[in-house]
Amino acid sequence: MQRTQAMTSVQPDWETFHKMGTSQKIPYFSKDNRLYDCLFAQQLNRELLEHLFRTADTLRSVTRTKDGADHVSSLLSDKRAMLYFAQPSTRTFMSFLNAAHVLGIKTSEIRDTSTSSEVKGETPEDTVRTFSSYVDMIIMRHPAPGFVEKTAWLMNRTGRPVPIVSGGSGKDQHPTQALLDTYTLYRSFNGEVDNKHIVMVGDLKRGRTVRSLSYLMKNYRNVSLSFVSPKEFRMEADILDFLRRHNIPFTETEDFAGVMKTADAIYMTRIQDEHDKSGESKGVDYSPFYFRKEHLDIIKKTCVIMHPLPRRHEIEVTVDEDPRAVFWRQERNGMWARAALMAYIFGVDGKIA
Ligand code: CP
Repeated sequence: MQRTQAMTSVQPDWETFHKMGTSQKIPYFSKDNRLYDCLFAQQLNRELLEHLFRTADTLRSVTRTKDGADHVSSLLSDKRAMLYFAQPSTRTFMSFLNAAHVLGIKTSEIRDTSTSSEVKGETPEDTVRTFSSYVDMIIMRHPAPGFVEKTAWLMNRTGRPVPIVSGGSGKDQHPTQALLDTYTLYRSFNGEVDNKHIVMVGDLKRGRTVRSLSYLMKNYRNVSLSFVSPKEFRMEADILDFLRRHNIPFTETEDFAGVMKTADAIYMTRIQDEHDKSGESKGVDYSPFYFRKEHLDIIKKTCVIMHPLPRRHEIEVTVDEDPRAVFWRQERNGMWARAALMAYIFGVDGKIA
C-alpha cells in the first residue's frame, strides 16, 4: 500500500501531534488519498459521504438475494476484525459486527476489559497493539477522550498498521453515528440533505453524536441548526466556533415547542449522566425536552424524528407508530452505512454490484 506524503514523513511525537488541529491531523489517517482510520467526522467530505450512501444502498439491494449475499460475503472473507468495546454498546457493536459478517469479515471481540490482560497491568496501548498482531482492522469504543486517536497514531508508527475505526470516543466524537444519521437524512429526503433545518435536542454538552453530526453538516448547503437544551447542557463552544467558521447558522433555545414547527429533522438525545462527575444531572428538569405525542400535531408533515438511541423517556413510545419516527430505521441504516465504510477502507467498494 502506497503511503501519503504525511505518512512517509517523520511523524511528530504524541504530545505534539495531539495539539495539532484536526485538519492538520487528517492526512496522517489517510493512505493512497483514501480514508484509512475513521476517527473524526471532519474526515468525511461530501464526495465520500455520497459514495458511501450509494454503496450502502447497493449493498442492501444486492444482498436481498442469496447469490448477491454470497458474492458480498466473499469480498473480504480473507480479513479479520477486532471489536474492542471498553464502554457499553448495543447498536454500534451489533451493527459493526453484522456489517463485518455481511462482508465475510471474521470477527473477535473484547467487551469487558476485566477479561483482558489489562487487569495484569498491561497498558491499553499495548493491549490494542496486541490485537493488531491477529487482525486486519480494529473497531473500538473507549471512554477516554482522544484514546481512539492515540491508538491510530500509535498503530501507524508500527511495522504492521491496521485501520482503526471509532465506535465512539469519550464525549468527543462518534463519527460513524454521524455517518448513519446523515445516511438516514439522505434516505428520508430522497437524497437531498441540503436546505434542511435540523433541531438537536437534549444533553448537547456531553453528547458525542450531536457533536459529530454538527461537524458533518459543513458538507451541505443552506443547512441551519437549532440547539435545544437545558442551560446546564448547552452545546460546547468549540462546536459553535466551528459552525461560525463554516457559516452554518445556528440558534440556541430552551423553547422546544416553538422551534420544532419549522424543523425538517428533530434529533432527540438522552441525558448523558454516565459522564457525571459530581451529580451534575441531578436537579435538572429534562421534561421540557421530551418529544410527546401531542407534538406530532405541531411538526411538519415531512419532518423526521430521529434518535441515536438508547432512549429513556425523551420520546413517548406511542410516537413510534407515526411514520415520521425514523429512529428504528436509523438504527438499521447503521449496519449498511458501516458495511459501506468497511468495504471502502478495504478497497472492495468497487466490487459491490
Ligand atoms: N447510538 C449508539 O451509539 O448506541 P449504542 O451505545 O447502543 O452503541
